Amino acid sequence: METPPPLRSFGRIRSRTLKPRQASLMETLLPSLRLPAEGPVDPMRLAPGAREAWLEIGFGGGEHMAAQAAAHPDIVILGAEPFLNGVASALRHVEEMGLRNVRIHDGDARDLMARLPDAGLDRIFVLFPDPWQKARHHKRRLVSPAFAAEAARLLRPGG
Ligand SMILES: C[S@@+](CC[C@H](N)C(=O)[O-])C[C@H]1O[C@@H](n2cnc3c(N)ncnc32)[C@H](O)[C@@H]1O
Repeated sequence: METPPPLRSFGRIRSRTLKPRQASLMETLLPSLRLPAEGPVDPMRLAPGAREAWLEIGFGGGEHMAAQAAAHPDIVILGAEPFLNGVASALRHVEEMGLRNVRIHDGDARDLMARLPDAGLDRIFVLFPDPWQKARHHKRRLVSPAFAAEAARLLRPGG
């Protein structure tokens, strides 16, 4: 059987040219924070000593992720976002705030989710994920029964 094309829940990958500083952070900071592109990812091994692991899906410009990371230095926060301008903005927050507990997947969150273990996350944030109000855009929505089932697989009991 032919494999169906992957669901496309996001719009543009890049909307405008990155500013020089953002472009520089993509080159210098992102490689040290980037999650492996393939293979299983064990969140608790990413930051030894972390008390919990949280995931933010579609972090946009990273403001919420950075604020959470700053408020909870004992938690490792995984962020997934395919929009490169958003990733670059998040890197700026990570640098300016001196955060050491953020790891980034600069791609589709569902690809990362599929590589995370059962019950390995304590919290998942999905904030304003779907600006797809029109019926013809319905197929682009991230949140679906299949997405909810996958999120439930990833969360610890009570997460
Ligand atoms: C309406 S924006 C909200 C951004 C941010 N959460 C906020 O509240 O400001 C939706 C975000 O979800 C991201 N997104 C959509 N599909 C995604 C996917 N499959 N994986 C990760 N991020 C996704 C988009 O790139 C976009 O940044």
